Amino acid sequence: MSMPRIHWHDLPAPTLAAVEQHTGAVLGATTATGGMNSGIAATLRTTDATLFVKGIPTDHPQARHQELEAAINPHLPAASPRLLWRVQTGGWDLLGYECIKGRHADYALGSPDLPLVAQALAELQQTSFADLPIKRAEQRWSNYSGPHGVELLAGETLLHTDFAPDNVLITDRAHIIDWAWPTLGAAWIDPAVLILRLMDASHTAPDADACARQIPSWRAAPHDAVAAFSEANARLWDEIANQDPQAWKKGMARHAHDWVTYWRTRAK
Ligand SMILES: Nc1ncnc2c1ncn2[C@@H]1O[C@H](COP(=O)(O)OP(=O)(O)OP(=O)(O)O)[C@@H](O)[C@H]1O
Ligand SMILES: [Mg+2]
Repeated sequence: MSMPRIHWHDLPAPTLAAVEQHTGAVLGATTATGGMNSGIAATLRTTDATLFVKGIPTDHPQARHQELEAAINPHLPAASPRLLWRVQTGGWDLLGYECIKGRHADYALGSPDLPLVAQALAELQQTSFADLPIKRAEQRWSNYSGPHGVELLAGETLLHTDFAPDNVLITDRAHIIDWAWPTLGAAWIDPAVLILRLMDASHTAPDADACARQIPSWRAAPHDAVAAFSEANARLWDEIANQDPQAWKKGMARHAHDWVTYWRTRAK
């Protein structure tokens, strides 16, 4: 559900004032490129800091995801930006984050960003999470599961599940941002999700598979479980592309099916 992005100064005066209670005077604001769900996403400059703010109207259907994003933040590894404050004033729900001065990840075949992304994901997967009250993979994909069922997706690893390249910022390392869809499940689900984004950046299925093998959970992934997930995920992308047939969504659905075909014939 995307919405047009407004600029910092278009926010209502009471909202701006509430933010400045946390930050002090905002001297300048630059609207971020990338992403589409946030009604506002901008870098703010204050007298002594630069920080990042994102937000949506309080009554927006996506507000639930922002709630999750705020709740998960204290549990994330240090490479993900810390949440500094939250403001819910003047009809807006805003999250203020540490600013990462990086650029969006490049997922092209052979990109030097790929080992950094794999490393960040592997590190995330090493962190342990004490039974967070968030959705489980079995629930997320339950409507799309085939004859195998979704019990194969179960696990205790924190998953990000949205590896669009503009959700990974690159400095001297990769930073996984935009935690709107945190999920608990089998660790190999995140590499499987990343694979479709690599294919969207022109990796073939075998190229993307080889790249994901940098991540330990992917090397250990059970073949049948990946097959079950891949089929469910292809059904999910079909639904997304049918509901809103934008070119990139149709592309993702195509990659999901190409991936299923490849995985069926890949040696176990
Ligand atoms: N902590 C941060 N520091 C610097 N820039 C950031 C930070 N967080 C996000 N950004 C920039 O803002 C963009 C949008 O942020 P984010 O991905 O969190 O929200 P969104 O993309 O609008 O939401 P969605 O991905 O659900 O559509 C990112 O692609 C990135 O360019
Ligand atoms: Mg995003």
